[in-house]
Amino acid sequence: MSLKVAIVGMGNIGNVHARVYSELADVELVAVCDIIEEKSDKAAEAYGCQGFYSVEEMLNSNVEFDAVSVTTAGTENGGDHHEPTIQLLNAGYPVLGEKPISNEISKAEEMVALAKEKNLRYGVNLNHRFTPAAELAKKWVDDGRLGEINMIDMTMWINNPNESSPHFHMRALHPHSFDVMRYFAQSEVAKVQAFFKKGKDRAIWSNVQVNLLYENGIIGSLRGSYDANFGAAGTYGLETLDVVGSDGRFVLKDACEDLTFYPRFDTELENHVNYGGMSHFSQTFKSRISVWVEQNIAEVAPEGIDASGEDALTVQKIIEACIESWETGKVIDL
Ligand SMILES: NC(=O)c1ccc[n+]([C@@H]2O[C@H](COP(=O)([O-])OP(=O)(O)OC[C@H]3O[C@@H](n4cnc5c(N)ncnc54)[C@H](O)[C@@H]3O)[C@@H](O)[C@H]2O)c1
Repeated sequence: MSLKVAIVGMGNIGNVHARVYSELADVELVAVCDIIEEKSDKAAEAYGCQGFYSVEEMLNSNVEFDAVSVTTAGTENGGDHHEPTIQLLNAGYPVLGEKPISNEISKAEEMVALAKEKNLRYGVNLNHRFTPAAELAKKWVDDGRLGEINMIDMTMWINNPNESSPHFHMRALHPHSFDVMRYFAQSEVAKVQAFFKKGKDRAIWSNVQVNLLYENGIIGSLRGSYDANFGAAGTYGLETLDVVGSDGRFVLKDACEDLTFYPRFDTELENHVNYGGMSHFSQTFKSRISVWVEQNIAEVAPEGIDASGEDALTVQKIIEACIESWETGKVIDL
C-alpha cells in the first residue's frame, strides 16, 4: 500500500516535509494547503499536486488522502496548530503535527483528547531521537550496558534572535530536549526547578538551566539557549546528551554525529562517528517522517505511535512547570 498525504502550512518546514514525502517510495503527496495563496500555489506547482487555501476547502474537495502533516507555526511556533489539527481530526484524518504541539496546555489537551476519542493516529515531529546513533545508545541502555542510570544531562542551543514572547525559547525549542531525555530515562519527570537568564541585549528569557528529578530516581539537567551555538552556522554543535550509569556512560553529540561509550571500569572507548550513515541533524526529518509513514501503512493502533501527541503534551507540561518554577521560585511537582 502507498500512503497518500497532504500538508497544511507551506512555510519553511512544510516544504521540508514535502521534500521528504517526495523522496519516499511508498508515499504520494496529493495536496498542499496554505492560507497565503502564493505559498500554496508555489508548493502545488513544485510538488505536482493540488493546492488549497484553507483546510475547509481541502476537506470539501474530491482529493483523497490518508494522513496529513500540520506544519503551521504561530505564537511561540505552536499557536496555529490547534485549529487545523482539530478540523482534520474531526474529519477523521491521522495527523503528524509540528512541535510544540501547542503553546497552550489546554489546547494541546483538547487535540490529544480528540485524537483519542476518534481513535486516530496523532504524532508530533519530535525528530531528534530518530537517529541510528540514538537507537544504538538506547540498545545499550536496554541491554544494561550502562548499569543503573544515575544522571541525564542535556545541552541544546541554537542562535535565534526572535524576541516575540518572553518564553519563546523554552516553549519552541525544548520539546526536543525533554523528549530525548524522557526517552532515555524511561520514566516521567517528577519534579523540576528552573532558572532563566536574558541574553545580552535581549528582552526574552533566552537562556535556561533546569534541574530534574525523575520518578525512577534519575537526576539530571537541561542547559538551553537561543544565544549559543558556536562557530559559523553552528559548526560546534547543537546538542550534547550525557547519560551516566553505574557501569558506563555515553555522550551523544548533535543527535547523530558522534556517539561515545565510556566504560566505568575499563579504558577502551567505543566511538561511532555518523553511525548508520547519518551525519547531520537535518536528516532527522526524513528518519522521523519515515517512521510515521511506516506506522500508518502498518495501521498501528493510535497508542502505538512513536513520538505521539500525548508524548508532546507531556513534554509541554514539563516546560510549563519550568516556567512556573522560575516565576514562583519553587520546585514544581508534576
Ligand atoms: N521539528 C523540527 O526540528 C523543527 C524545526 C524548525 C521548526 N519546526 C516547527 O515547524 C513549524 C513551522 O515552522 P515554519 O518556520 O515553517 O513556519 P512558517 O511561519 O514559515 O510557516 C507556517 C505556514 O503555515 C501557514 N498557516 C498558518 N495557519 C494555517 C492554516 N490554518 N491553514 C493553512 N496554512 C496555515 C502560514 O501561512 C505559513 O505559511 C513550527 O511549529 C516550528 O516550531 C520544527
